[in-house]
Amino acid sequence: MSQAPAGNADRSAHDPTIIRGGARPGTPLLSVRDLHVEFAGRGRVVRAVRGLSYDIGPGETIGLVGESGSGKSVSALSLLGLLPKHVGKVTAGSAVFQGQDLLHLPEDKLRRIRGARIAMIFQDPLSSLNPVLTIGRQITEAIETHRGVSIREARKRAVALLDLVGIPAAASRINDYPHQFSGGMRQRAMIAMALSCEPSLLVADEPTTALDVTIQAQILELLRRLRTELGMAVLLITHDLGVVAGFADRLAVMYAGRLVELGPAETILADPAHPYTIGLLRSLPRLDRPRQAALTPIEGSPPDLASSLDGCPFAPRCAWRVDRGWTDAPPLVLAGGERLADAALVGHEVACHNQPTREEALAGLPLTPGFLPAPPPDSLVIEEEVV
Ligand SMILES: Nc1ncnc2c1ncn2[C@@H]1O[C@H](COP(=O)(O)OP(=O)(O)OP(=O)(O)O)[C@@H](O)[C@H]1O
Ligand SMILES: [Mg+2]
Repeated sequence: MSQAPAGNADRSAHDPTIIRGGARPGTPLLSVRDLHVEFAGRGRVVRAVRGLSYDIGPGETIGLVGESGSGKSVSALSLLGLLPKHVGKVTAGSAVFQGQDLLHLPEDKLRRIRGARIAMIFQDPLSSLNPVLTIGRQITEAIETHRGVSIREARKRAVALLDLVGIPAAASRINDYPHQFSGGMRQRAMIAMALSCEPSLLVADEPTTALDVTIQAQILELLRRLRTELGMAVLLITHDLGVVAGFADRLAVMYAGRLVELGPAETILADPAHPYTIGLLRSLPRLDRPRQAALTPIEGSPPDLASSLDGCPFAPRCAWRVDRGWTDAPPLVLAGGERLADAALVGHEVACHNQPTREEALAGLPLTPGFLPAPPPDSLVIEEEVV
């Protein structure tokens, strides 16, 4: 029988009214609450986002991280009304941006916000750029649509933007077609297009994944400079914790459609409190660890999002799991125990029935003598055998 390490159990029981969903002082620019997104098709319903809540403050950068398939892109697309029609839909929640709930806006109103006040850049710029229009035309189109300026004025602005994002000889390259640009240049052109209307929020979904490491660093540097110059908030989506380190103010760690940990980036990277985050960090090469220290991938795979997932979604892969993890989903609350005082100060939240201690986080495994992860309840074992 499993047991919780002494003093470790039930840390989610402290006051859930303090700082929920990563709320920070002041009015957030975007406030996402209890977002649910589903996909229907081939006789099954995939619940891709299952109660996601977070805030982004004006000018703040949030890094939304998590394994492939955890719902990062889908959650962002749903905010902008860009889910695949008739297949994906928002089934619950709200996303208040500058006083308006994006999830309940008519399409024409949302279109006016999209591209003007909220801009998005995607992982693959080639599929997002129109191959038969010049780069310049694509940027000026965005400017003309949202700003109502003359063609001449829009063109001048497009050249200035391409210059700003570091395209050499922008005045002549503006007449090039996307295929005449390199991958890094196309990503810069996408950024120029996204910035053309000076958005208050930039959603960047894996903006550097397709690029080699040097270009990746240059693009991140560019985004860092631009967000300061323009005072823009950024939602940076990535499965690469190396990318968010030193770039994001706060991290939101997503697993199976919900957040498992939220807090200042420095805190989460130095003092992760959720077994999943601990696993993610241990699977990364780090400069502060001996070179020969083995990288440990997280065992197992993410759950089937078409299943009901009543308990903690990470339970089947978790070395710290307790019985309750099989049946009850832990809420996102302030990190407890030895972390509580700091967590209350900085807003460090975690969704875990049995938070690893700091010592355990460093070791990467539970240290209480005799502790064994809780075996699945009988019903689950039988179900698996039958299938
Ligand atoms: N068009 C679709 N039809 C059905 N299910 C979908 C569709 N798009 C996404 N999903 C489901 O939603 C889940 C979340 O997908 P999403 O693209 O948000 O993952 P992600 O976290 O962005 O992953 P990655 O790091 O690979 O980009 C997927 O596991 C998939 O099951
Ligand atoms: Mg994605």
